[in-house]
Amino acid sequence: MEMPAFLHLFLFFHIIKLVKEKKLAHNTLKQAKINKKDEFYTQLSDIEKELKHYKAHFKGKTVLCNCDDPRVSNFFKYFALNFKHLGLKKIITTCYKNQDVDLFSENNSEKAVWIEYEGNPNDDTNTDFSTIKVNKLKGDGDFRSKECIELLKQADVVVTNPPFSLFREYVAQLIEYDKKFLIIGNQNAITYKEIFPLIRNNKLWLGFTGGNMKFTVPSYYPEMKTRFWVDENGQKWRSMGNTYWFTNLDHSKRHEDLILYKKYTPEEYPKYDNYDAINVDKVSDIPMDYCECIGVPISFLDKYNPEQFEIVRFRKGDDGKDLVYTREREFCHTSA
Ligand SMILES: C[S@@+](CC[C@H](N)C(=O)[O-])C[C@H]1O[C@@H](n2cnc3c(N)ncnc32)[C@H](O)[C@@H]1O
Repeated sequence: MEMPAFLHLFLFFHIIKLVKEKKLAHNTLKQAKINKKDEFYTQLSDIEKELKHYKAHFKGKTVLCNCDDPRVSNFFKYFALNFKHLGLKKIITTCYKNQDVDLFSENNSEKAVWIEYEGNPNDDTNTDFSTIKVNKLKGDGDFRSKECIELLKQADVVVTNPPFSLFREYVAQLIEYDKKFLIIGNQNAITYKEIFPLIRNNKLWLGFTGGNMKFTVPSYYPEMKTRFWVDENGQKWRSMGNTYWFTNLDHSKRHEDLILYKKYTPEEYPKYDNYDAINVDKVSDIPMDYCECIGVPISFLDKYNPEQFEIVRFRKGDDGKDLVYTREREFCHTSA
């Protein structure tokens, strides 16, 4: 039986509408993904620059990279290439795969996968990964999922650049499972009410390097006026001026004294109206001979040596100025 013409028309419009709706949903999901700013891929050179300060922490250890597609992650690449050099026991890598078909990452992982690598005795150069078995995860590879937590339990040290939108939860989980970690995050995370107490209580601190870092981003990320470029291969890049490593692995910079040279005068260092502390705008201007509370910008944490200073409090500034209140340990002890 032939279909009436108006039904053809109706079906045609209906199909167009469905396609449009699907496209809209796809775009909305894509936009949501862009807004989260989670797809920033770390460069091998940035990983190398930081990791060279921690060699002693990795001997005989199992490392987990749990936000990393092992087929493309530079974190996996770094640990696999340096497997012998670091004396690793094992690398476990798991990758997240959003189960929405329209949101396939550009890494083309159709399923969340994981691998474990225990070195290759037949490959002295550690460059042949072809024998590594890629296993499928049952779920989407969310670091909070049961199967990923089971892998987390096996790990001694977790090293990755986790999704920034889930940074609080990510760190909370590492603390809950009492893991050593070295992860990338945005400087703003210092001000989170879940993160700052960890810094004050010396359970987390900034790593060795940081500040400016560049990342590759997916092609669907929008162009930006600043801190954005496309390379000769068409690869999009973004750079961030406030990216730091967050860790609970000890490193030598954390024990270096900040050299202070300025002398305190009440004229140069006025007190706040609402807090009993003097204001210091630049970390290098902290007076060497002041024993009470000092308000410093949060960039101070990049220079923080817990043997030299004590962190007293953190203030989230409603004037856009976030401060750490700190006190000098050495001077206060010797002058007491
Ligand atoms: C900042 S990117 C870094 C990727 C990779 N670690 C690197 O440094 O190149 C964070 C990655 O975490 C993934 N991700 C997002 N939500 C996740 C989750 N709930 N569990 C695990 N990974 C997740 C994102 O898809 C993204 O690829």
